[in-house]
Amino acid sequence: MKGLKGKVALCTGAGREGGLGHGILKRLGEAGCQLVVSDLDSIMTGRGTHAPNDNPVVCDLINSGYNAVGITCDVSHETSVGAAVEGTVSHFGRLDILINNAAIGDIIKPLTELSLEEWQRVISVNLTGAFLFTREAARVMDHGSSIINIASQAAKTGFRQMAPYVSSKHGMIGLTRTAAIDLAPKGIRVNAVCPNHVTTTMGKAQSEYFSSLRGLEPEVYRAQIAERVPLGRVGTPEDTAAAVAFLASDEAAFITGEALNVSGGEETH
Ligand SMILES: NC(=O)c1ccc[n+]([C@@H]2O[C@H](COP(=O)([O-])OP(=O)(O)OC[C@H]3O[C@@H](n4cnc5c(N)ncnc54)[C@H](O)[C@@H]3O)[C@@H](O)[C@H]2O)c1
Repeated sequence: MKGLKGKVALCTGAGREGGLGHGILKRLGEAGCQLVVSDLDSIMTGRGTHAPNDNPVVCDLINSGYNAVGITCDVSHETSVGAAVEGTVSHFGRLDILINNAAIGDIIKPLTELSLEEWQRVISVNLTGAFLFTREAARVMDHGSSIINIASQAAKTGFRQMAPYVSSKHGMIGLTRTAAIDLAPKGIRVNAVCPNHVTTTMGKAQSEYFSSLRGLEPEVYRAQIAERVPLGRVGTPEDTAAAVAFLASDEAAFITGEALNVSGGEETH
């Protein structure tokens, strides 16, 4: 991929081993980027047992030979987001690629049973967090930078019992399209990636919940998901990471405001 070597990439919600953020940063590290792993304090420091740079994802990236640093941040807190962007610039001198990946996906219940607090919690992390980070990053980014929002198939299709998550992800596409226009004069491109089911931390928990609703073993339920995907399997973090690397690279220099499906053909609009 052209244009990634030496770039500084920050991914939010990337502190869990095996998550999409981990896969994305690994792929960008391979391409020569310098990496910022960001997540909640409890994830980065193991609830105070270690420093952010001892987080397992940071350690894995460093052990793989990449230049990586850990920065604690709650994306739903304005001052925390400002401090994370400032911390990145003071450590690496710049910020070129932002991946808005942090999300909550575990509030799954019928619409009529949802509290306002639950609705607001999901929107404030998944959507407001992406807004705050986009705004703060755009203030320091140079011409040629790129912002990528990790949305979901749930950004294009409704799913039962997931009103806050689905709404937040649909909102992310609106943010992507608007930010692409607003930030184009600054030479910053903004795109979204929409994966379908990936069996990582969040996807695993969601498929376990929905399989129990249907009285199925999780493996049977996941096999049913794979069956309806034209390419015959569920997604992997590497599938999403490859799309992110492409969108962040100079190969995608004329692509902005796009919401790219990474779904094996399951989602086609
Ligand atoms: N796994 C899937 O099937 C799937 C499918 C489509 C889209 N996605 C999206 O991919 C992204 C990554 O999900 P994942 O599957 O790797 O799950 P994950 O749970 O590993 O990743 C989400 C991360 O966000 C962090 N987070 C939560 N609240 C935060 C906050 N306030 N501030 C900062 N970080 C916070 C969590 O600690 C976690 O590390 C999410 O945006 C998710 O919606 C996942």
